Amino acid sequence: MLDTRLPTASESGRGAPTPAPGAPRCSVHAVDLFCGAGGLTRGLQDSGIDVALGVDMDPACRYPYTHNNGVPFLEQSIETVTADDLPGAFSRGSIRLLAGCAPCQPFSTYSRSRPRADHARWNLLDHFGRLIRETKPHLVTMENVPMLRREQVYSDFVATLREEGLTNVSTAVVNCADYGVPQYRRRLVVLASALGPIRLVSPTTPEHRHASVRDAIADMPRLDAGEETHADPMHRACRLSPLNARRIRASRPGGTWRDWDESLRAACHRKPGGKTYPSVYGRMEWDRPSPTITTQYFAFGSGRFGHPEQDRAISLREGALLQSFSADYQFAEPARTMTAKAIGRLVGNAVPVNLGRAIGISLLRHVKLHHAGRAM
Ligand SMILES: C[S@@+](CC[C@H](N)C(=O)[O-])C[C@H]1O[C@@H](n2cnc3c(N)ncnc32)[C@H](O)[C@@H]1O
Repeated sequence: MLDTRLPTASESGRGAPTPAPGAPRCSVHAVDLFCGAGGLTRGLQDSGIDVALGVDMDPACRYPYTHNNGVPFLEQSIETVTADDLPGAFSRGSIRLLAGCAPCQPFSTYSRSRPRADHARWNLLDHFGRLIRETKPHLVTMENVPMLRREQVYSDFVATLREEGLTNVSTAVVNCADYGVPQYRRRLVVLASALGPIRLVSPTTPEHRHASVRDAIADMPRLDAGEETHADPMHRACRLSPLNARRIRASRPGGTWRDWDESLRAACHRKPGGKTYPSVYGRMEWDRPSPTITTQYFAFGSGRFGHPEQDRAISLREGALLQSFSADYQFAEPARTMTAKAIGRLVGNAVPVNLGRAIGISLLRHVKLHHAGRAM
């Protein structure tokens, strides 16, 4: 049987949430730690969660975060943020959600061979745990790369959740394509609640209905490499070197550099026993989800980021669409030109909006089941 008893103030330190007069009974107020350009916040807001504050130390996040979401932005390192920096973010009587997606580079496969010292950044998850202790949220969600589960810092984080009364913890490794994102992207989603058992909603999009690259970008105006459209400066494609221009012409959707003539191959691909990265230099396929959009998705040589039929890498806008941002999501101030590298970092690091929405729906359903309609 589900335990629908709310913890008392003395048990949890968080107090029983009570709706403000006239407010919906299940209002959930969130703080988004490591909020980036706002992929997670956008998805949570789309689901009906009220995000009160985003925190990130990168000043480049301020404009896209506030402009697209209308949510205040605190530019500060999580290492120095305390509960005192969040006054009013968690309004009295609401259900408090602490959401966050600590930078995943330290946990990703690409960085595992780097020296251990580089992993000092892992302590950011410890700071997330510290803020849980300080702010006593009713709900927590954390998204990251799946291999984080193997790390001690992750076990410590889950232990903190339980010690802080968020005893209902569920973890799921999901493919974002199963949640309406036109992209294969495996992610770990942690949900924790002090209110009762919780889990992520079941996949919303079965494999045969996965959104495809065609669904996401087929309507975009044609572009040449190095060109951008006047109407949308984000619809710009990076230049290609003469060699890469020949390579992309020789590439087929879903193929690899192995399809090319020997003369086009990189030196490391020519050597017998040399390094083989089959997932670089490819074109996307129209009728499948895209490969994982990384921070380098605008560069043909960094992954399978070639357009399915035009001789160029996908544009900055097309990458954002494949992350399920809306077509009008702005990443740079109108009068400011941002480099492809800077925009790629904001887009590639984001939680896909549709995954954020599924997380939000899961949390709201959970609150409705375990909290709404109960005597407070
Ligand atoms: C994986 S991204 C988060 C993406 C975001 N949740 C979204 O959906 O768009 C991680 C973010 O952590 C931020 N970050 C890294 N170190 C930080 C720190 N010490 N304090 C605050 N933010 C930090 C980075 O600037 C980056 O925006």
